[in-house]
Amino acid sequence: MTTTAQPASNDRTENHEGTSGVVGRPLDRVDGMAKTTGAARFAAEFGYAGLTHAALVHATVARGRITEIDTTAADALPGVIAVLTHRNAPKLRPPRRPNIIRDLGPDVSGTNVNYLNTDEVHWDGQPIAVVVAETSAAAQEAAGLVRVVYAQLPFTVDFAVEATTHAKPAKGDLTFRGGAKKGKAEAALAAAAVSVDRHFTTPPLQQNAIEPHATIAVWEGDRLTLHDTTQSIRAMRAHIAWRFAVPVTNVRVVSPFVGGGFGGKFGVWPGTVLAALAARSVGRPVRLALTRQAVNRTVGGRTASTNRVALGADIDGKLTAIVHTSVTRLGRVGGTLEQTTAPARHLYRTPNLLTQQNVVELDLLANSWLRAPGEAIGTFALESAMDELAYELGIDPIELRMRNEPDTDPLDGKRFSQRMLREAFAVGAERFGWSERTPEPRSMRDGRWLVGIGVATAFHSALRMTANVTVRVAADGSVVVRCGFHEMGMGGATAQAQIAADALGVAFEAVKVEYGDSNLPRGPMAGQSNQTATVATSVLAACDELNQKLHTLARRTSTVGETPAATLAAAGRPYIEASVGSDTRLGKVAGQAKFLSTFLRDQRWSKAARGAQFCEVRVDADTGEVRISRWLGMFDVGRIINPKTAASQLRGAIVMGIGMALSEQTLVDPRNGRTMSAGLDSYYVPVQADIPPIDVAWLDEPDKTMPLGLVGLGEVGMTGVAAAIANAVFHATGKRIRDLPITLDAVVDGETAIPR
Ligand code: MOS
Repeated sequence: MTTTAQPASNDRTENHEGTSGVVGRPLDRVDGMAKTTGAARFAAEFGYAGLTHAALVHATVARGRITEIDTTAADALPGVIAVLTHRNAPKLRPPRRPNIIRDLGPDVSGTNVNYLNTDEVHWDGQPIAVVVAETSAAAQEAAGLVRVVYAQLPFTVDFAVEATTHAKPAKGDLTFRGGAKKGKAEAALAAAAVSVDRHFTTPPLQQNAIEPHATIAVWEGDRLTLHDTTQSIRAMRAHIAWRFAVPVTNVRVVSPFVGGGFGGKFGVWPGTVLAALAARSVGRPVRLALTRQAVNRTVGGRTASTNRVALGADIDGKLTAIVHTSVTRLGRVGGTLEQTTAPARHLYRTPNLLTQQNVVELDLLANSWLRAPGEAIGTFALESAMDELAYELGIDPIELRMRNEPDTDPLDGKRFSQRMLREAFAVGAERFGWSERTPEPRSMRDGRWLVGIGVATAFHSALRMTANVTVRVAADGSVVVRCGFHEMGMGGATAQAQIAADALGVAFEAVKVEYGDSNLPRGPMAGQSNQTATVATSVLAACDELNQKLHTLARRTSTVGETPAATLAAAGRPYIEASVGSDTRLGKVAGQAKFLSTFLRDQRWSKAARGAQFCEVRVDADTGEVRISRWLGMFDVGRIINPKTAASQLRGAIVMGIGMALSEQTLVDPRNGRTMSAGLDSYYVPVQADIPPIDVAWLDEPDKTMPLGLVGLGEVGMTGVAAAIANAVFHATGKRIRDLPITLDAVVDGETAIPR
């Protein structure tokens, strides 16, 4: 069945017609009204008596030591309360090495630098002082008055140079695969009837969530409350408690709404640590709301990458070899590895496969995750190369993909829990009008516009973690679901309310979901598209238990068949509740064991979100300007809980993919390691005028191994987008661009400049 994202009706009663459930209905998000009226409070918007304001001073060298730091002028500015440097800041414990099992999350600390506890500088932009003042303006002004002298040290910041000279194999672990090998790929490649062997590069990127990072830190004795912009409240709580040497239970992280994260809000970055440090030091609440520039100089973005993708095939287009080797970077003080080669391991049948992840270390801010880490880059390289192979073979690019659809996972033969790529391409091709495309490059034209149509496969691995959840039904009929998960705009609370309503057989409106607070039962991090499936697993289990308890109670009170409220009233009970997991020490150990067993059980299957991206571009024949004119994303992402929020997630991700393809890049000055594009004046995210109507649709087939058959879809929409665009640009112009972003100079320049 194909379902289209329909505009949702605002009439909620309609959602109950002709069905018993609300799962699958395009309900309005429960936080929509609060957000559109401004009632929703974000981290920087909490008020406290005596609130002070902080600003950061950033290092202006890539590597060195601070030999002098003069705060006289800053201290003297009216309204300034304190200027903290490594000379006078309170001592902190250094970051500990992250432990994925203990923390059940990604790297907790963005870097391993003990800010303001060292005179060492590790990147241009590292915070080296914090000003606390009565107003934000005074803090900002004073920050500009701090004078610093450095003893500089040699540094390495040029990714392109290092990637070709100093790349070394990346170490694998539980969740990251360094290399993979099946058969003899290089030999098969050399012997292949037809082959392509290409090099693709992508630039560093920043998340640029609409809400810049912000923290309000409030100490009462040795208890700390943090209002913060985070994708992992429990990892933040654990990290901050460690740094300040207080029990974890002394730290409360409150984060009811987050204005987008996209991976930039997993780690604990300097702003959070320094707000807490400043608040402790001045004995008043501190608000540190970072400027856009400060965010992009202290919060790691996506790595740059180089990729070699080589494909060998027989003359019928059957792949005989796939090679994908890639170099990404880490900061010398931390960073995360992007699994750029994952799509090459899971998408196409091949007897010979070789992937290898390599890495270089640079004296730059530690890099971090950005929506679909690994897959966004990997699908650009692989899916561009597939298009090139299709042209070499003279086979339709969709047909080439269909001829190489595997029956089991190409790497290890695992069964697919669900795989409907064939259907996604078939239904998508029909819907998009693929058959009207004439295959020859430069064969479609509309006046001065060269028209091109391209496709690519979307792919993102599925992941489930663990969550503690409590569900309570009260005698007044209300239901409360409590779980410390995150709302970054994806509609998590809405989806869980739908799931709980159906599981308990109550009205959607009766369910309230509490989230975004570390005082709630421990939720998962919001990342790797895991949150909805993870929380749903526990919500369903808690509702099952509640239903059993209610059934027992109903039999005792002779209210079988009546509502839960009636049963509770008859029993004289104000409420009844059920919990999954516990936050005690023992409960945490049990939770870790459960995480491992779920993880390992899920590992028996090859699970992923997938899809087919269809794109039409128009390229100005004179200027090389690329405009996206049509888009269809046809997805295979299991069962859809809420078509309205799901469509929104997929569309937003496609928009980010368009930015990656056409305009976004973090520019680093190779002479000094300074980010030249920290502001949105020099880092170009797409605006409304860049985005055509985006058609998204899905097959809505449940994945039988996932709760309610749902597969997370927060990231898959971004994958395949850049390749679909590059492929469409080739189709339009005959020019193959393998280096992102596809700016107009790349389209018109060089030996294959567009002839008039
Ligand atoms: Mo995402 S990079 O898992 O927020």
